[in-house]
Amino acid sequence: MGNPLAPTWLDQPAHINALDAKVWPRHASRRATGEVEIASVGVSELATQFGTPLYVIDEDDFRARATAAKHALESAAKKIGTSAKVYYASKAFLSTEIVGWINELGLNIDVASGGELAAALAGGIPAERIGLHGNNKSLREIGRAVTAGVGAIVIDSEIEIERIASAAGAQDTIQGVRLRVNTGVHANTHDFLATAREDQKFGIALADVPNLVAKIRSHSHLKFLGFHQHVGSQIFAVEGFVESTKRLLALHAEMLAGGDIPEINLGGGFGVNYKPADDAPNIGYFADAISAVVEEQCAKLGISVPKLAFEPGRYIAGPAGITLYNVGTIKDVKVTDVAAPAVRKYISVDGGMSDNARTALYEAEYHVTLASRSSTAMPELARVVGKHCESGDIVVRNDYLPADIQPNDLLAVAVTGAYCYSLSSNYNFMTRPAVVAVRNGEARLIIRGETEADLFARDLNYQATHANKNEKS
Ligand SMILES: Cc1ncc(COP(=O)(O)O)c(C=O)c1O
Repeated sequence: MGNPLAPTWLDQPAHINALDAKVWPRHASRRATGEVEIASVGVSELATQFGTPLYVIDEDDFRARATAAKHALESAAKKIGTSAKVYYASKAFLSTEIVGWINELGLNIDVASGGELAAALAGGIPAERIGLHGNNKSLREIGRAVTAGVGAIVIDSEIEIERIASAAGAQDTIQGVRLRVNTGVHANTHDFLATAREDQKFGIALADVPNLVAKIRSHSHLKFLGFHQHVGSQIFAVEGFVESTKRLLALHAEMLAGGDIPEINLGGGFGVNYKPADDAPNIGYFADAISAVVEEQCAKLGISVPKLAFEPGRYIAGPAGITLYNVGTIKDVKVTDVAAPAVRKYISVDGGMSDNARTALYEAEYHVTLASRSSTAMPELARVVGKHCESGDIVVRNDYLPADIQPNDLLAVAVTGAYCYSLSSNYNFMTRPAVVAVRNGEARLIIRGETEADLFARDLNYQATHANKNEKS
């Protein structure tokens, strides 16, 4: 029988050492010794060489997921007689190395700030394959994007039309722009993540769109590429996409009266399994269902099918990454203020909300396994917590781990490849972990871990009073 404190979706596992393919990277397995390996590199070796916490990316899995997303979206578009541009939403996880992979695999990249743009450019992807987002792009960011020659800038408010036109005019160039529309559709997801509702900061209200399109078209230095939507994140049901796409296509058809609109960007948001109990559809399911509604609506509206664009982030990066932690303190906590009092084991690890903010931010649920060895002990309900001064500093809220977890065991948390490194912080003066890519038995450090020196690098008083001393000594 399971622990009564466990949520209803969490069953006590029959095989506590099993690695469920639903959540673990493609090349994760358990050796005969019981230790977990990723792409033939043992987790103990990784922890010894690079320290913990440690983000580990199964490089071939990341690449395979990027290729699969590209293929699914492109072939669904092809079936309805058009093409699809697939942008990797780099906010999910970005480094110049990742840009290199994305470039090599033929995807495009979406960036949402000047910093992300700088990383994309430094990673070597041609500028015309970059799309720039953001609800508050600075003049500098706009200028840099126009100068670099990015393929598209997504306009998110009226004032940006003049700003982009003026930057393009100054460069005597024609800048491709999309217009982000808030279709008002609620995607079926956690409230904080739903980004296509009315009362929020992103996009242009449907009623305001005609005016803004006319304004864009009045500028000779702007080329109107089409509309953009992003209906939310971690979406499992296609209905939100379908409804929003219908609204966007109706607008697209209406605006064709004033000129050509070559494409429509339907955004990202494709969900992934975070825990074995999840059942995320394959991206092919979304691709086919969305393409089908595009075809049907275009036929109804009597218009030709535009080129499609998509922006998956989490789908590509999330499941390819794990985080390794070292176990520190362990506590059995009696929980008595509930209908069925029980014990919850609190297992503290050497990271926390500074390397994975999603649990605290979105009440996200994760899955964990004992990674440095297997165990024959009974499964016990556990909560994996970090070492920050916050009671909300939880990494894995609910999962079963073997009852014999000990200090210095290594735990692996699954599906941390997206929005963990990119949301990481130095809260409590913790250093951000390294990122290692593993492939064919080799581990390659792609982002080094921070050191204490990094923590003080911008502290001018420290630099004045300590750095020189260190130099002299
Ligand atoms: C405009 C836009 N496109 C794409 C994405 C990527 O979403 P996901 O990682 O859920 O696919 C986001 C995420 O916030 C976004 O805001």
